[in-house]
Amino acid sequence: MTRCRLFAASALLAVSSLASAELTPEQAERAVETRQSVLHLMGWNIGPLGAMARGRMDFDVDRVQTNAGRLVALANMLPDAFAPDTRANEVSTEALDVIWEQPEAFAAKIQATIDASNRLVEAAAGGDENAMREAIGGLGSTCGSCHDDFRADD
Ligand code: HEC
Repeated sequence: MTRCRLFAASALLAVSSLASAELTPEQAERAVETRQSVLHLMGWNIGPLGAMARGRMDFDVDRVQTNAGRLVALANMLPDAFAPDTRANEVSTEALDVIWEQPEAFAAKIQATIDASNRLVEAAAGGDENAMREAIGGLGSTCGSCHDDFRADD
């Protein structure tokens, strides 16, 4: 019992010191790689949908449904993916410091993308092209809106 409690206490200590400690270079590299991977996959999944919305590709409802579901899952990973604060580390990133300086504003941008991807799932379930086009455009603008404020220009 005593040993168990001691273990719990030290585990708690480890967690709280982890939260405040700076990331090691390896942790920071991995954190950047992880969040960029999530965003890369978001780009990969919205790419064909953007082409459909712009009339460069025929609408394929199955594809829209599949990718919309993936985008919901990926958008829901963003809070965890951006949890590690890499401001103090030398990393190659386009993430601006303001992400961790204004966490509420950043969380609101994530929520807008989650909401817009859920709306796309609904539109895709209906299968109406105009509704899908509108929902794809709506989702795309939430990406751009976050990039405007929180991502360095290329
Ligand atoms: C809450 C803010 C936010 C939202 C929402 C967001 N992004 Fe980003 N995005 C970023 C930031 C910040 C970076 C830079 C990440 C880095 O370099 O560490 C980025 C980078 C990217 C990258 C480059 C990834 C790489 O390989 O380096 C792509 C592609 C991308 N975003 C696509 C999207 C798409 C598509 C959406 C919407 C479906 C989206 N993003 C929504 C903030 C966001």
